[in-house]
Amino acid sequence: MKLWSGRFTVGTDALAEEFNDSLPFDKAMYKQDIAGSIAHCAMLGKCGIIPASDSDKICAELRKLSSDIDEGKTDITGAEDIHSFVENELVSRIGDVAKKLHTARSRNDQVATDLRLFVRDGIDDIVALLRSLVSVLAQRARKETNTVMPAYTHMQKAQPTTLAHYLCAYCNMFLRDVDRFTDCRKRVNVMPLGSGACVATTFPIDREYTARLLDFDGITQNSLDGVSDRDFVIEYLAAAAQTAVHLSRINEEFVYWSGEEFSFISLPDEFSTGSSIMPQKKNPDVNELLRGKSGRIVGGLVSMLTVMKGLPLAYNKDMQEDKEAVFDVQKTLSLCLRVFTEFMKKAEFDRDSMRTASTGGYSCATECADHLAANGMPFRTAHEITGKIVRYCIENGKTLQQLTVDEFKSFSPLFDDGITTAVQAQSAVARRTVIGGCAPQEVERQLDIIEKALKSL
Ligand code: ARG
Repeated sequence: MKLWSGRFTVGTDALAEEFNDSLPFDKAMYKQDIAGSIAHCAMLGKCGIIPASDSDKICAELRKLSSDIDEGKTDITGAEDIHSFVENELVSRIGDVAKKLHTARSRNDQVATDLRLFVRDGIDDIVALLRSLVSVLAQRARKETNTVMPAYTHMQKAQPTTLAHYLCAYCNMFLRDVDRFTDCRKRVNVMPLGSGACVATTFPIDREYTARLLDFDGITQNSLDGVSDRDFVIEYLAAAAQTAVHLSRINEEFVYWSGEEFSFISLPDEFSTGSSIMPQKKNPDVNELLRGKSGRIVGGLVSMLTVMKGLPLAYNKDMQEDKEAVFDVQKTLSLCLRVFTEFMKKAEFDRDSMRTASTGGYSCATECADHLAANGMPFRTAHEITGKIVRYCIENGKTLQQLTVDEFKSFSPLFDDGITTAVQAQSAVARRTVIGGCAPQEVERQLDIIEKALKSL
């Protein structure tokens, strides 16, 4: 039964109905819809808008309906959307009294409320998953504060760092994601119910009461805005897109790190796949998918920004498009986070390959220039001289570490005996003790901060 059949003489065209219906996807928020209805109905009873006995009866049946769906005893089918389904089901179970449930409410404020509840639950889920991921990354980083590896700029070896420093960078990114979701949750957790179709209601409802029952932090202050605001969806999708981009970046690293040319990481058998033709292959399919899934998550954000950009006030059916974006992003991102956290527990890093790679590409040249600058030479001049030393090395097939003190001194008298140690990758790392640097004790300090942040979540 349609919720609005009274005005119509002929039924909806079958194709138009299929096009219009949202039940096939919005059934995913049946729990939120029923919870919202229970709170609304309890408020109607408390305010004397419907008799308390009717309110009790409706609420009891709504609870029963929720558990019947949970247990698979009731299928969600045969209605336009989840709101119609719940109401129809209620009428068929307890008769006409159920028709009082929709007093002082519209599907417009109802759907906005349901989606806020769904997004709020989604955020809590994602924050918990991010927390587990950062904690695994931090645990792994603790063991790698002395694992020297190259840091890259322009994807070329730049300066030595450590694997721990690298992993901590991603911890910081994922902690910012937590921040973003948590901040966004404040604006999600505001209740629009009571906005009615667009200009609220004449019934003496108590919105604050309903909001308390649903654990909202507050209520919206303008009914036109209440029913038509989807900023909270866009913000949530933007936070999700940012997290997906972070996941994509770290997995891009792991894709190339797993190649023979790098050999920085060995993929766990449980998280890689083979080739149907090349028997030797072990492919980083999981990492590639973690990179690729960012496409659909970013797509969700772009899709909602586009849907909203031309919409006049107040509710427009275009907004029904919000749900598939939210449901898909929630499902995809939470799966990605779970998979990646398990991957991170099992991945094996090849410390020797990293160490060997860390001195290549003259990545300790900055140490050489810094050595001269520390001994009084203007840095720009030191940079120039070091450039000449690198050219000398290239022409003579030597590394910086193979040069003797005398060879260094032939370029400048400001070199002292300490130069041969200074150009070692390990010492380049150890001397970067400034805040944010890669020295082992400094990264330990960064890890302390990360662990403290995790504890406060
Ligand atoms: N399925 C609709 C949606 O998701 C519910 C609201 C319907 N309201 C309306 N005025 N047609 O937006």
